[in-house]
Amino acid sequence: MRVLLTGGAGYIGAHTAVELLEQGHEVVLADNYVNSSPKVVDRIEAITGHRVRAYRADVSDRAAMEALFTEQEIDAAIHFAGLKAVGESVAKPLAYYRNNLDSTLTLLEAMERHGVGRLIFSSSATVYGTPERLPLTEEQGTGVCTNPYGWTKVMIEQILRDYTAAHPEFSAVLLRYFNPVGAHRSGLIGEAPNGVPNNLMPYITQTALGKRDHLSIFGNDYDTPDGTGVRDYIHVVDLARGHAAALGYCAEHCGVEVFNLGTGRGYSVLEMAETFARVNGVAVPYVFAPRRPGDVAACYADASKARRILGWEAVLTLEDMCRDSWNWQRQNPDGYEGA
Ligand code: NAD
Ligand code: UD1
Repeated sequence: MRVLLTGGAGYIGAHTAVELLEQGHEVVLADNYVNSSPKVVDRIEAITGHRVRAYRADVSDRAAMEALFTEQEIDAAIHFAGLKAVGESVAKPLAYYRNNLDSTLTLLEAMERHGVGRLIFSSSATVYGTPERLPLTEEQGTGVCTNPYGWTKVMIEQILRDYTAAHPEFSAVLLRYFNPVGAHRSGLIGEAPNGVPNNLMPYITQTALGKRDHLSIFGNDYDTPDGTGVRDYIHVVDLARGHAAALGYCAEHCGVEVFNLGTGRGYSVLEMAETFARVNGVAVPYVFAPRRPGDVAACYADASKARRILGWEAVLTLEDMCRDSWNWQRQNPDGYEGA
């Protein structure tokens, strides 16, 4: 298939591009590089030996999308493009609603004009809000989000349900990611956050590198085995394979389907820091700090639906995640900037 990856130069998009190219698909990428670099395209090509057609374009730009869909015969789209920093979304809600909703609507309109009927959307476990029960199954309702970023995911899921109800031949797959970490084993692509990282793994890798003094562990008084927060970390390469499986599914089914993409196993912040230090033979100094507002104690997936229906499951281990994150960070201490 010829697959459009909006936001395809980003962290998850780039790994998915590699996976799809290696499975024999063609990849067309559209990114405005607001949170990535055009250098990613060269890296994807270097890993796979295949060409990527890359468009520098804002997905909200109607004319740019019209040109892309006219030039390329797209079979399916994976919509990664979006702003994703939770704290920033609280400070700049309009920018988040504008970018994330507009890009989705503009993409859907272009798909409709060009008769493209398959879409995979990057949703998030954040749509569940505070979990009612663990592990989280797809049947649990979407909850109350604590930030505008999360609400954009809930709203886009609803837009896709409404659109599919009006177009029963359309196929939309909503993938709810848990916590992606890790990097391609080549160390050529990985997560490159701007400024001080908000998420745990990039904070750990930058601490190990000496860029940060120490890791602050947000809360050690949660109702979890060691008191620190528990999350379902999933290797980004497993996640990328999940997209390939979803692509096969949406080629053969109509309607909306939701899948959790997680491992089904939770690890605590302490386990993460200690495993990272042990596997890589580096120090990760940490201190305990107050809880971060908006955090839940524990969040992990019931991943059985994806296994049953997509025939996909995560196979890479926590050790793989720690080793590959470190390999990427060491080779690229300043992300793509130093390249
Ligand atoms: P990322 O920021 O690395 O990638 C997103 C890409 O989209 C970037 O390359 C950015 O430049 C691009 N982009 C943003 N707005 C755009 C626009 N209007 N037009 C064109 N390009 C645009 O993020 P990621 O971690 O790869 O996440 C991909 C998707 O998955 C996002 O929608 C994110 O919300 C979602 N998600 C991510 C996580 C996570 O932990 N990384 C978890 C759950 C869901
Ligand atoms: C966060 C977002 C979520 C988003 C996800 C992926 C919040 C409240 N939630 O999820 O909406 O989908 O990122 O981008 O921001 N931790 C520390 N010290 C740190 C960083 C994190 O102890 O310096 C802890 C957190 O308290 C948490 C765990 O590590 O227990 C994971 O944090 P993080 O990587 O930010 O992911 P989430 O909070 O699960």
